[in-house]
Amino acid sequence: MTQPSDTYFPAAETAADGAPTSPRLSYPRYISISNQKGGVGKTTTAVNLATALAAVGKQVLLVDLDPQGNASTGLGIDRADRDCGSYELLFGEATADDAAAPTKVPGLYCIPSSMHLSGAEIELIDTENREFRLRDGLRAATRRYDYVIFDCPPALNLLTLNALAASDGVLVPLQCEFYALEGLSHLVNTIERVRDAFNDRLELLGIVLTMYDKRNNLSNQVADNVREFFGDKVYDTVIPRNVRISEAPSFGLPAIVYDMACTGSQAYIHLAREMLKREKAARDVALKAMATAEGVSA
Ligand SMILES: Nc1ncnc2c1ncn2[C@@H]1O[C@H](COP(=O)(O)OP(=O)(O)OP(=O)(O)O)[C@@H](O)[C@H]1O
Ligand SMILES: [Mg+2]
Repeated sequence: MTQPSDTYFPAAETAADGAPTSPRLSYPRYISISNQKGGVGKTTTAVNLATALAAVGKQVLLVDLDPQGNASTGLGIDRADRDCGSYELLFGEATADDAAAPTKVPGLYCIPSSMHLSGAEIELIDTENREFRLRDGLRAATRRYDYVIFDCPPALNLLTLNALAASDGVLVPLQCEFYALEGLSHLVNTIERVRDAFNDRLELLGIVLTMYDKRNNLSNQVADNVREFFGDKVYDTVIPRNVRISEAPSFGLPAIVYDMACTGSQAYIHLAREMLKREKAARDVALKAMATAEGVSA
């Protein structure tokens, strides 16, 4: 695949020996968009959040880990151009730099879902280091990103596990419907188990309510219940149900590019802003803690 020439190196935020000082202080930030429930807005969130981050000047990589390839389609990557993608990265047949294709959005790259990915789940079972294939492949990337976003499949399988093992945080899209909370506790347990077994950096970053319809009592009830249970882990921004959002992928465009003014696009721009604000607040806390620790040890 063609290599974009605008290689970007943000200020290094790692210790002198190259080891990250704190997950909150190192870049890139790796974020899984995950929920084992199907059709809740994972891909829509991954594509539009990635686009909104790129729009404010971040260098972003979206990794499509779903054999359905919806994120790749939503970013307008032709099937013919998907012979080098996440499957090849997972199995060491391509480097992250080779697999990352530029998109129509400046600053946004995509490692697409290639045809072979549907077989990866079974092939991974007998592969050495099977949970860390993605993490290790991405760590070898020479192009520097601010954010790496994983669009996970609707399953807690080995592909999702690879994403979680490579991530700093998980963002969970939750559709405002009756069964929304069902399975969420399972996902939260899985995050805890992955943190204990494979990746102590992993945290639940936040829950974003999707396809919200304010005229629908059930939507409001579900939103209230989720906020009651998860408190400030739930983003203030709510993504409304909006037909323009569902139209955009058929044009191979993120909704934000297809119709920036529509309520859905505006909500995703808001979400990106809220996420960056929360990230900054958490970074400030981590920096303060580091300064205090240095003061104590001096
Ligand atoms: N806010 C929204 N308003 C209207 N339609 C939406 C919205 N968000 C997503 N959709 C539509 O709902 C469907 C499911 O969304 P999406 O593909 O993002 O979910 P998903 O969780 O990635 O699904 P899967 O589990 O199959 O990967 C798609 O047709 C999408 O266009
Ligand atoms: Mg999807």
